[in-house]
Amino acid sequence: MCGIVGFIGCKPAAPLLLEGLAKLEYRGYDSAGIALVENGQITIHKAKGRLSVLSDRIRGGDGIEATVGIGHTRWATHGKPSDENSHPHKSASGRFAVVHNGIIENYAALKKELQSDGVEFLSETDTEVIAHLIERSYTGDFLAAVRAAIQRLEGSYALGVLCAEHPDEFIAVRNASPLIVGLSEIGNFIASDIPAVLAHTRRVIPLADHEIVRLTRDAVTVFDQAGHPVEKKEMTVDWDVTSAEKGGYDHFMIKEIMEQPQALSATISPRIDADGGIVLDGIHLTASQLRKVNRLFIVACGSAYHAGVVGKYVIEKLARIPVEVDLASEFRYRDPIVDEKSLVIIVSQSGETADTLAALREAKRRGARVLSIVNVVGSTIASESDDVLYTWAGPEISVATTKAYSTQLTMLYLIAFYIAHKLGRIDDRDQRRLLSALIRLPDMVSGILRQAGELKQLAQRYAYLEHAYFIGRNLDYAVALEASLKLKEISYIHSEAYAAGELKHGTISLIEEGTFVVALACCEKLIEKTMSNIKEVKARGAEVLVLTTDDNRDVLPEADHVLYIPKTNDLLMPSLEVVPMQLLGYYIALARKCDIDKPRNLAKSVTVE
Ligand code: AGP
Repeated sequence: MCGIVGFIGCKPAAPLLLEGLAKLEYRGYDSAGIALVENGQITIHKAKGRLSVLSDRIRGGDGIEATVGIGHTRWATHGKPSDENSHPHKSASGRFAVVHNGIIENYAALKKELQSDGVEFLSETDTEVIAHLIERSYTGDFLAAVRAAIQRLEGSYALGVLCAEHPDEFIAVRNASPLIVGLSEIGNFIASDIPAVLAHTRRVIPLADHEIVRLTRDAVTVFDQAGHPVEKKEMTVDWDVTSAEKGGYDHFMIKEIMEQPQALSATISPRIDADGGIVLDGIHLTASQLRKVNRLFIVACGSAYHAGVVGKYVIEKLARIPVEVDLASEFRYRDPIVDEKSLVIIVSQSGETADTLAALREAKRRGARVLSIVNVVGSTIASESDDVLYTWAGPEISVATTKAYSTQLTMLYLIAFYIAHKLGRIDDRDQRRLLSALIRLPDMVSGILRQAGELKQLAQRYAYLEHAYFIGRNLDYAVALEASLKLKEISYIHSEAYAAGELKHGTISLIEEGTFVVALACCEKLIEKTMSNIKEVKARGAEVLVLTTDDNRDVLPEADHVLYIPKTNDLLMPSLEVVPMQLLGYYIALARKCDIDKPRNLAKSVTVE
């Protein structure tokens, strides 16, 4: 997820672009750049690092007179953060400049085609192909060239495009990535999100997918895919600036919970090819290398560790390779039996967690091959791994992870399918069946998110608890770990996750009248056993909230409240179960008026031991 802005009007564009980008840094902040049209030329200023690096370099835009320009603040997906990979990107002749938010899924094929035509690329990004495609289509008609170029693109893209030969206009395109137009007294804007223009106007036009807009100093014309003008309604924004950065949500956490369908799609879809096979761009492990692996380790901290516990169950079930899951802070000091026959999977949203990075280095020191699942492109863990699979959840601002955890699960599922298929443990038909269930997850999660109101109401009932217990078996237990952490880290309620079958070995002594227990009962083959555990705690006076699948109506008599979710392949159920648990934790913390995005004592990335 990146932030793009554009302006054309009667004032210098550079300061306005920088100001707009500053409001979009929550969408990406590893590099930034602006492009301006002046004296028939396009001038680009761009830099790795936070926006302030760029702003300092051009003294806030002082003295730059150009009144039309585009800008970009980046969340790297293709190509590490660097000056060269920063946007805007120019076409070969320098006649066009492009900023892009989204993922061009067929960029590799387009890049190869352009290179065979002699085009030289200056960056590793997918975006640069767009600038060259526009140039190749240009015969004097700016809009027609953009329309022709986007016909070749597959994937998601919000674009801002400048042309040196058309200094009195610029063009923007929206497809699957957000883009709005802002109409103001000083000129016309485009932006990925409303906060970027609020300082100058509350009059915005949200664009729809496949719409193209031409902006001049005093007019905005929207066209459909066929090039026909489209009538658009203006809307007036009544948000304040702060809530606008959260997209109108009260907290980044709920915004990121609601973004999960898009995050899952962005992470899954580029990894499934047209023939229904898996394309794991970051893995260079051959089948023969995989066959030499006799043990797999998944090492991480916190929620990333909880994702690893899910990964263990799924990989062992499908690939039949032993999987050990370790807390990074334990792994690094327990003298682990790791060698060149080990494959170590490191999971980390930030890619900077000190314990996890130390565990990575310990694994490499012992000869293991390291594959990492990371959300931040170019992070330290990514740069030190042999193979890297990026989750494309976009920046996650809230300390409590939600969308990053969910995309970690999907990467672990894909790795399990990939390894099992490479080793011949599952055939093409099995893989296609699993992938078709995986592809349906974003829509299923969208459906569950529509239950948010029910969870908000339910949370009022449990908001003043002192203790909570989350129990489950198998994958339900793995989700219970994450559900418990979500609740405790933002509501400060003491909470424990327990394997349901383990309760009777001690902890059940804590269950008394009114003790709150959440029972996750979605693992079909163990449902009877979990039901027995529910009865055990009920018999001791517990108040039980059961999370189960739509088809399981037997739990009703035993539960004080039941949350139903749809059913999918057993191995993928964690991706559905975790959503109501995230919402429950969020709404309980909301009712307790906690500082949800910045819980006490916690940091988004723990870069110290
Ligand atoms: C989870 O909500 C917390 N933010 C925390 O447990 C986090 O998952 C852990 O610190 C690991 O962080 P990482 O994924 O960035 O390595």
